[in-house]
Amino acid sequence: MSAVFEALASRRADRAFCDGCHRPRGRDGLGCADCHGAVGNFGVRNGLLALDLDGPVRGPTGMAGDRAAHETAASDYLASADLCGTCHEVDGPGPFRESPYAHWRASTAAARGETCASCHLEEREEQPIADFDGLTARPGLIHRAVGPDDGAIAAPLYGRVPIAIVIEDGRRLVTIDNRSNGHAFPDGASFLRTVDVVIRTEGRTVRSIPLASELSGGPLPSDRARAVPRGVPAGEVMRVPIAEGDEVCLVVERYRADLLEALGLEAEAAGFTTCAEGPG
Ligand code: HEC
Ligand code: HEC
Ligand code: HEC
Ligand code: HEC
Repeated sequence: MSAVFEALASRRADRAFCDGCHRPRGRDGLGCADCHGAVGNFGVRNGLLALDLDGPVRGPTGMAGDRAAHETAASDYLASADLCGTCHEVDGPGPFRESPYAHWRASTAAARGETCASCHLEEREEQPIADFDGLTARPGLIHRAVGPDDGAIAAPLYGRVPIAIVIEDGRRLVTIDNRSNGHAFPDGASFLRTVDVVIRTEGRTVRSIPLASELSGGPLPSDRARAVPRGVPAGEVMRVPIAEGDEVCLVVERYRADLLEALGLEAEAAGFTTCAEGPG
């Protein structure tokens, strides 16, 4: 687990609640069975998954062939947003609030029928789904974007948000276009991060617009602190006027510096920067 998770969870009396999503079944990170053994939930929030770990492995087709090491069954639940939302809708305590599922439900992406998996699992070239002789190739999905904890996760995700410099009605603007996203930008545990639109003139920062949730009540998420949402809602475009020659970048830090300081942890080099292109 990350040092930040350990530092936060170990300070809390409700640590088991944290572990319910972060260390399901008492082991670090998500295992295959945490999704492929899920059969439903007791509410789309707070990790209330219903798991059937003795039953068949659930998959899109239920057809694994007779050499699989386990029974298989077809399941629509696996591809549903409810599965992801059960862990990605966190309803407290304190600042621990994440709402990508609620935001997704209200989005045009949901209306178009795109689930979390449609965007977050990438299609890959056809190949056998297991390392056995004689298995035929079939289309499959890359799970990278749902298997985080590799320290570099922010880069593939944040790289997908279009930030551009445009001229509209003769005005020079920087735009952050969140129309094709399925939820707010940023979303999830954004109260732990910094996400800033940084505007520089001749290399000097003239303005910095914070998009990550503001943590009111101090840097250390305590029960009294509240995460106040900012950022760009799903379906909207943020427009900020800039001057000719300005350079604009989106600068992401995985953890807020004041949080690391309050926890007595060293800064991690896991940030991500992407700069806007457009008429120079
Ligand atoms: C309902 C499931 C759920 C519960 C309960 C939960 N979290 Fe999380 N947490 C998540 C998800 C999902 C993410 C990833 C979201 C993102 O990155 O935007 C996350 C991200 C985090 C992160 C950033 C990733 C990392 O490991 O550095 C930390 C730290 C964290 N949670 C701490 C906690 C603590 C402490 C608790 C208990 C008070 C807790 N969480 C309870 C689901 C949960
Ligand atoms: C059993 C709970 C659980 C389920 C079910 C689950 N997740 Fe997660 N997910 C997590 C936790 C916990 C993290 C954060 C882990 C960490 O950073 O240590 C996470 C991280 C992520 C991240 C990376 C966030 C970031 O900022 O790095 C994405 C994207 C994600 N999950 C998408 C999905 C999708 C899509 C689904 C459904 C197919 C899904 N998750 C199902 C618990 C879950
Ligand atoms: C966060 C949830 C989640 C986790 C964890 C997860 N999967 Fe999946 N998996 C999915 C979803 C969602 C699909 C697509 C379902 C659909 O399209 O109906 C899928 C599809 C698959 C498929 C069929 C598609 C293909 O690629 O051929 C296989 C095989 C698979 N997963 C294996 C695994 C294995 C092995 C692990 C553990 C290393 C794992 N999965 C972990 C959510 C998950
Ligand atoms: C239409 C595509 C789309 C859909 C649908 C979608 N996402 Fe995302 N997701 C993205 C993009 C693009 C990003 C990176 C930008 C951002 O953070 O919003 C992202 C980022 C995330 C993050 C990291 C948040 C952050 O800002 O660090 C989490 C967690 C996540 N998605 C979970 C989910 C869950 C859970 C669902 C379903 C309830 C879902 N997503 C549906 C496209 C999508």
